[in-house]
Amino acid sequence: MKLLVTGGAGFIGSAFIRLVLGDPTVQILNVDKLTYAGNLDNLRSVENNPQYAFVRADVADRAAMRDAFEHHRPETVVHFAAESHVDRSILNPQPVFDTNLAGTFTLLETARAFGVARFVHVSTDEVYGSIETPLEADEAYPLKPSSPYSASKAGSDLLALSYFTTYRFPVVVTRASNNYGPYQFPEKLLPLMISNALQDRPLPVYGDGQQIRDWLYVDDHCRAILAVLGGGRDGQIYNIGGSRSLANLDVIGAILSATGKPESLIQHVGDRPGHDRRYALSSRKIMSELQWAPLVDFEDGLRRTIRWYQDNEPWLEHLRTGEYQRYYAENYGNR
Ligand code: NAD
Ligand code: DAU
Repeated sequence: MKLLVTGGAGFIGSAFIRLVLGDPTVQILNVDKLTYAGNLDNLRSVENNPQYAFVRADVADRAAMRDAFEHHRPETVVHFAAESHVDRSILNPQPVFDTNLAGTFTLLETARAFGVARFVHVSTDEVYGSIETPLEADEAYPLKPSSPYSASKAGSDLLALSYFTTYRFPVVVTRASNNYGPYQFPEKLLPLMISNALQDRPLPVYGDGQQIRDWLYVDDHCRAILAVLGGGRDGQIYNIGGSRSLANLDVIGAILSATGKPESLIQHVGDRPGHDRRYALSSRKIMSELQWAPLVDFEDGLRRTIRWYQDNEPWLEHLRTGEYQRYYAENYGNR
């Protein structure tokens, strides 16, 4: 299978590429702009694999997308590339619009022109907005996004689905809950709290810390995307939840206890504007149609994740310092 992956140098995309390359029949082209969140170190273990190739390009660049499709002739596309962080989207929504909306449009147009057989649009449970207890959002739940990030994902989901309705383009949308695991950029809750705790730095908790998220280990998410890529139905949406809802303060408590650090590191700070109180997903559809279920429970996943950050201090260190940009220019140039 010839597969084109976008955003493969990010957290989830790189885990997906590492997983898929276990199949000797797959040829992958990874198309990534290498924003602050894209890191080719995440792909060191596969960079010399003859089944893998990389091109640095912006998904919103029509000519570059045409070249990539012309060159690779993919049968399938998995679209991860996005501005993925809610706080950044609040501070500066422009790149969110450019990549998540305009970029998705350009990629859909290119993939349609080249007649790909399957396009998986990777999306998020945030499109449903905050869910009242005890409800769970299934795939028919109304969309009520709160942030520029989640609104851009809701918009791109609808655009992708319209390509099925209008053009019978074989698109499938996945909506996953909060991912965690190795190689996650330390701006998201888990890697930020883990790296700060390991350095005895304060842990900034937004508001009262009682917001609920459903935690999904990244490899479980990648297995779900693979299942959808192979067996999902065109024009359908599949929720992918971790079946593990926890309040932020409980997650942080678990990190403090696993790292042996004191609760005094917790520092309550101002709340995120428009902060969603609770996410809760029903994943019954993917479980019954595609026999997928999460395999890594939160305690085990958290242990593995903390151990990875402890063992990969240099990976974290170069992200923390201004060295990062220089390191990139020196190591990767304009690739
Ligand atoms: P990430 O921020 O770690 O990685 C994003 C990747 O996309 C980076 O490699 C970046 O360089 C690349 N990219 C950004 N803009 C680009 C552009 N214009 N052209 C090409 N490449 C570009 O993100 P992630 O956490 O791995 O998320 C991947 C996808 O999964 C996103 O679509 C996100 O919305 C979705 N998602 C994430 C989570 C989560 O918890 N992290 C949960 C559900 C869904
Ligand atoms: O639900 C899926 C989504 O999960 C993905 O679509 C997004 O790409 C991903 O970033 C994530 O969004 P969240 O906003 O839920 O994740 P984040 O890690 O930013 O925050 C998780 C919770 O922790 C949220 O309630 C805000 C809180 N938080 C976050 C940070 C970074 C804090 O209290 N302090 C912090 O410093």
